[in-house]
Amino acid sequence: MHFFEEKRKEVMSHIEPHMLEKMFEYLKPIDTIWQPSDFLPDASRSTFFSEIKELQESAKGLSYDLIAVLIGDTITEEALPTYESWLTMVEGVSDNEEGGWMKWTRHWTAEENRHGDLLNKYLYLSGRVNMRMMEVSTQYLIADGFDIGTGRDPYRNFIYTSFQELATNVSHRRVASQAKKDGDTLLSKMCGVIAGDEARHAKAYKYFIEKIFEVDPNEAMLAFEDMMRKKIVMPAHFLREVGLKIGQTFGHFTDAAERLGIYTALDYVDILKELIEDWHIESATGLEENGEKARDYIMNLPARLLRVAERMKNPMLEYKFSWING
Ligand SMILES: [Fe+2]
Ligand SMILES: [Fe+2]
Repeated sequence: MHFFEEKRKEVMSHIEPHMLEKMFEYLKPIDTIWQPSDFLPDASRSTFFSEIKELQESAKGLSYDLIAVLIGDTITEEALPTYESWLTMVEGVSDNEEGGWMKWTRHWTAEENRHGDLLNKYLYLSGRVNMRMMEVSTQYLIADGFDIGTGRDPYRNFIYTSFQELATNVSHRRVASQAKKDGDTLLSKMCGVIAGDEARHAKAYKYFIEKIFEVDPNEAMLAFEDMMRKKIVMPAHFLREVGLKIGQTFGHFTDAAERLGIYTALDYVDILKELIEDWHIESATGLEENGEKARDYIMNLPARLLRVAERMKNPMLEYKFSWING
C-alpha cells in the first residue's frame, strides 16, 4: 500500500511542472472572464424593477421539472466547499502550497464559484423558489459531504472529475436549450456560459489523466476500471430536504432530469465512450496482465451499459419538492 502512495506522489510531482505550463490554457483571465453581474439586473439602475419583472415573466414559462433540475444543479454547484477541501486532501496536491496542483485547485474553485452564485441569484429573483427550503438543502449537502469512492488517490479523483465535468457540461447545456424552448432566453444564456466553463475544466482534468497514462499506464488503467465498476456517483448523491433523511431527495432530482432528457443513462454511456477515446484506451501500451484485463472490462462496458439503459423506463413518478412555490 505504501509503495503505491509513494509512486502516486512521484507521478504527481512529475506532472506538476507541466501543470504550471498548461494550466492557463484551460483557465480564463480573471479580469475579463464573465461574472454573474454580467447577466443579472443591476440594482443601482432605475430600470432594476422593470428588469426583474421581465425576468419573472419569462421564468413563469419554465416547467416544474426544469425548475427542480435547476435547483438541484444550483445546490450541487453551491456545495463547492466540499469539492475544494476534498481536492486538497488528494495525495500529492497540497504538498507544495505554491505548486501547480494547489494553484490549479484554487483557480478552478474561483471559476466554479461563479456558477452557484449566478444560479442562486437568478432563482431568488425568479420568484418561483422557496429559498429557505433550498438554502436548507444546500447547508445539508455541504454538512453531509459526499462519498465518491476515490479515497485520496489522485488517479481515481481526476478520473472522477473528468467524468463529472463532462456530466455537468451536458446537464447545464441541456437546461440552457430547454430554458430557451420555454421562452427564458436569459436563463438559457446563463446556463450556456456555465456549460462552457465545465467543458474547459473537463479538458484540463482529461489532460491530467492523459499525462498519468503516459507515465503510469497500468495503474491508471486499474484506477479507471475500479471507478467504472463502482459507477460514477453524482456529487449531490446525499441531497435531502427538510425533514428527510440523507440522500432521500437525490433520486427525485435525477428522475426529473431523466424525464426531461437533461441527463440520462445514455449520457453516462456517451461520456464513458468519450473518455475511452480521449485516453486512447484501446491502443494503450505498457500494461501488465491485470491492466490488460482492466482494459477489456472498460472496452466492453459501453455496450453493456447501453443494453441496460435501453431496458430502463422513463421515471414517471411525479414528486412535489419543498423547494418550489405553488
Ligand atoms: Fe460548475
Ligand atoms: Fe465544473
